[in-house]
Amino acid sequence: MHTLIARNLKTLKKNLSSQRFRNKKTGLVPTMGAIHEGHLALVNKSIKLCEATIVTIFVNPIQFNNKEDLKNYPTALANDIEILTKRKVDLIFIPNIRDMYPQDFSTYIHLDKFSDILCGKNRKGHFSGVATVVMKLLSLIQPKCAFFGEKDYQQLIIIKKLVRDFNLNIRIH
Ligand code: PAF
Repeated sequence: MHTLIARNLKTLKKNLSSQRFRNKKTGLVPTMGAIHEGHLALVNKSIKLCEATIVTIFVNPIQFNNKEDLKNYPTALANDIEILTKRKVDLIFIPNIRDMYPQDFSTYIHLDKFSDILCGKNRKGHFSGVATVVMKLLSLIQPKCAFFGEKDYQQLIIIKKLVRDFNLNIRIH
């Protein structure tokens, strides 16, 4: 089956309600694009463990404490789509900024623990931005499983805690 691409919330919702995803064990691989072997290992795992796999590509501005880093973040959208299509992922969600953060957006996840140590020490607000966008993606897509790399180990721990603290019925791999 060909890979679907959703570039806005309306298309995402329409696709998610179709036979291809309804009542299926869906796996989510959130990314900021510039797809590399690490992402593909997560994609392969999702394809193996789940009935449908969704990859999101969104460079999340609120997790960049340094605006220069955001400006210089690599993008390779056409290449990413080609690679993910070859891997036969079911859907690529590439939201636009206003879908994710409408002008009146005002609710952020505040982390009480783990965010001000290690990597978070010098990246104020970074993990709050990560937790907020991941929470949004999880609630939009409502997957059964979500996959995160161990390279960002602190992020992985924070996301596992987020899922526990908010009683989300999602397995984090
Ligand atoms: O690890 C990343 O690429 C990002 O932090 C994530 C989880 C996609 C959230 O923007």
